[in-house]
Amino acid sequence: MVFQKLLLHHKTGKKFLVKDASLDYHTEFGSILSAELKSKKAVVESNRGEAFSVLTPSFTDLWEQLQRGPQVIVQKDIGLILAKTGANGSFRVVDAGGGSGSLCFSLANVCKEVTVYEVNQDHYKLLVKNKELFGMKNVHLKQKSIYEEIEEKELDLITLDLPEPWKAMLHVEKALKSGGFLVVYAPQLTQVQQFYSSVRGTGIKILETVELLERQWKVEERILRPEHEMLGHTGFLVLGRKM
Ligand SMILES: C[S@@+](CC[C@H](N)C(=O)[O-])C[C@H]1O[C@@H](n2cnc3c(N)ncnc32)[C@H](O)[C@@H]1O
Repeated sequence: MVFQKLLLHHKTGKKFLVKDASLDYHTEFGSILSAELKSKKAVVESNRGEAFSVLTPSFTDLWEQLQRGPQVIVQKDIGLILAKTGANGSFRVVDAGGGSGSLCFSLANVCKEVTVYEVNQDHYKLLVKNKELFGMKNVHLKQKSIYEEIEEKELDLITLDLPEPWKAMLHVEKALKSGGFLVVYAPQLTQVQQFYSSVRGTGIKILETVELLERQWKVEERILRPEHEMLGHTGFLVLGRKM
């Protein structure tokens, strides 16, 4: 029998993902026996008497467990990509390079299907492994350079997070459907500049270039202020559309 994944939530805020409830699970707060995990109780206890709330893991809980290799696109930027493109359950998407899969699995969580191009063998293997975590059937992984070609056509969205996005422009133009979106994620402004040059004279119109900063707040009884540190520059997002 296959048990679904469980999320154990400890009062300290620490979360633990149980992938196989047929085995005992060990934490720094003690071990939880398999029988306890399979009991379907809302709260389970470790052998040290520590309590854990039992939840069904959400996509975000799984995303936090993603094994990371290359630098991932973080949630603030993923949120902006989804909001600006209006990605939904009818979208067919191509994403390159796949990297650790942070973006492609987030897209697959809301889109119809996502095809991922990843040229590096180690990163490709990492994507295969991370795909298992989500158990997603609408993600197709290809170990291939997107600079060579994009086989998929009539796409609603193409996302590029790789060093030289301008090298994919010819294929992007052919693969997008009319009105389809292109999002380029680039950490350096020099990349943005070179990308703009490559778009001139093509059927892609650049709509905007955006950077998003995220600052958390400390909210306690008598303390109400922004945190000292924040998530500042990650990358520029260039949003374009095939006209
Ligand atoms: C920064 S990572 C992408 C991270 C990914 N967006 C995420 O959120 O986890 C860039 C990836 O692009 C891949 N890459 C570089 N050139 C490529 C190409 N021509 N075609 C496909 N992938 C490529 C690299 O191997 C690397 O894994």
